[in-house]
Amino acid sequence: MGGPMAGHLARAGHPLAVWNRTRAKAESFARAHAGEAGGAVRVAATPAEAARGAAFVLCCTGEDEALRVTCLGDTGAFAGLDPGAVFVDHTTASAEIARALAREAASRGAAFLDAPVSGGEDGAKRGALTVMAGGDEAAFDRARPVFAAYARKAAWMGPSGAGQLTKMVNQICIAGLVEALAEGLAFARRAGLEPARALDVISQGAAQSWQMENRGPTMIEGRFDFGFAVDWMRKDLGLVLAEARRNGARVPVTALVDQLYAAVQAKGGGRWDTSSLVRLLEE
Ligand SMILES: NC(=O)c1ccc[n+]([C@@H]2O[C@H](COP(=O)([O-])OP(=O)(O)OC[C@H]3O[C@@H](n4cnc5c(N)ncnc54)[C@H](OP(=O)(O)O)[C@@H]3O)[C@@H](O)[C@H]2O)c1
Repeated sequence: MGGPMAGHLARAGHPLAVWNRTRAKAESFARAHAGEAGGAVRVAATPAEAARGAAFVLCCTGEDEALRVTCLGDTGAFAGLDPGAVFVDHTTASAEIARALAREAASRGAAFLDAPVSGGEDGAKRGALTVMAGGDEAAFDRARPVFAAYARKAAWMGPSGAGQLTKMVNQICIAGLVEALAEGLAFARRAGLEPARALDVISQGAAQSWQMENRGPTMIEGRFDFGFAVDWMRKDLGLVLAEARRNGARVPVTALVDQLYAAVQAKGGGRWDTSSLVRLLEE
């Protein structure tokens, strides 16, 4: 996700310093975008070096622990953060770590926005993501032109953590829907219908959804080697279930779908797209 987002920033002419844990990926990015980004893309040796002197520092890593090691410590991004800088985190992580990092950034005179995204790999490549952000509203307003390079919509949702909480709502809404789509397709097959024709007609009615349009056809083909990994979805549903225990929300279907994804992982499908739930119904 971070690669294509940074690519849009380069094409929009923003001068960039990039860091990735696997340095070869940062170097290959710099080669691919040389000549854009106001002339050059600099590969930094550490997150701190990438952050130094920047008005905006953008991060997209895997989960809480990866975010923590990228931000903190002697070589972490916060060690190089200028006072007045805005740190934008696009990782899907917990609301607690967002609040803790926002406090840490504030102690250095900088702002931290938790700003997870929706729209998938394809949305990142097309520059059509949705950004849901929490943190200082004035910092969000300053970051708007940056988001415009890769997002179709960016919304400020409230104080630190509100971006991550909104992303949890997003994942709750997706989880049950993908399972329902998988069940519909498996049912269509058993009923002797042609699944593609069934989808074609019902996607013009009230059952229509992004998942149906974008994942229905690939579910029918049995193609799952792309998209949003089951391992990441389990991480996200874990965040939802922990938050629901705290706030008392009832999420029975989400809890069930989390278990179904555990079964996909047990089949070796941790890196498959989340639409692979349908595999469980084919046995
Ligand atoms: N893919 C999607 O459709 C999608 C959609 C919305 C939100 N998201 C969220 O966006 C985030 C990134 O997803 P992705 O699909 O881009 O994942 P990904 O392809 O696995 O990339 C993860 C990135 O984080 C880095 N990383 C992982 N662990 C690290 C650690 N301990 N220290 C430093 N860097 C570390 C990886 O570095 P290496 O290159 O060295 O491995 C890589 O650059 C996740 O939070 C995910 O939930 C993804």
